[in-house]
Amino acid sequence: MSRRIVAAGNWKMNMTPAQARELMEKLIPLVKSDDKDVIFCVPAIDILPCLELAKGTNIKIGAQNMYYEDKGAYTGEISPVMLRAAGVEYVIIGHSERRGYFGETNEDINKKALKAFEHGITPIICCGESLEQRNQGITIDWIRQQIKTAFMGITDEQAKTAIIAYEPIWAIGTGQTATTEQAQEVCGAIRDCIAEIYDIPTAEAVRVLYGGSVNAKTAPDLFAQPDIDGGLVGGASLKEEFGDIVKA
Ligand code: 13P
Repeated sequence: MSRRIVAAGNWKMNMTPAQARELMEKLIPLVKSDDKDVIFCVPAIDILPCLELAKGTNIKIGAQNMYYEDKGAYTGEISPVMLRAAGVEYVIIGHSERRGYFGETNEDINKKALKAFEHGITPIICCGESLEQRNQGITIDWIRQQIKTAFMGITDEQAKTAIIAYEPIWAIGTGQTATTEQAQEVCGAIRDCIAEIYDIPTAEAVRVLYGGSVNAKTAPDLFAQPDIDGGLVGGASLKEEFGDIVKA
């Protein structure tokens, strides 16, 4: 089993194009790595300048969202065709902020994941429970439902290349990282769920990340867990600290 570790930054709604250039220049020397995939998921308006600066480096540029149609009258949306043509290789799908603030459903996320694969973009499919759900003891059931719906109609060959990010909502932006046990338990359950939908080889190929207040201190233990293949990092991806997380 040799899954490549992923260190993905989610810049969220931060960085003007000028600030994005500045941050890229600061981080490029700090995130060099031969054995990890380093991905910066940046705001749509920063994609082109970041792609330009990422040329010749190990950094891949991802989007934070996309629509599930190729083109047309969908004001404000960005299409997989546009992303692909620009050179984007990854897209975050179904982040809890998209689900919570913009009403995205498991079905929308499935449509987007199918579209991303159709256009050769690797989806980073997010899932995660609220604190209420965790307290009610329904975390694993909830996550399994999110995963099963997200992967409807996705072939095993596609699923093998997918990235899944487990991000407990209560851990996002709160400074309260899940414990390594909590994170490993759910990431393991996600892999089991993929094995049920497909088979063991698919489950062993898919990469499962943890996200939620990951920092340079918590990353080494998290990334050492058997079913955690890296992190999706918010706040700390905007700082030099991201370099230490890549090294974790
Ligand atoms: P923080 O690392 O800021 O908690 O954000 C996590 C996240 O939502 C990444 O997608």
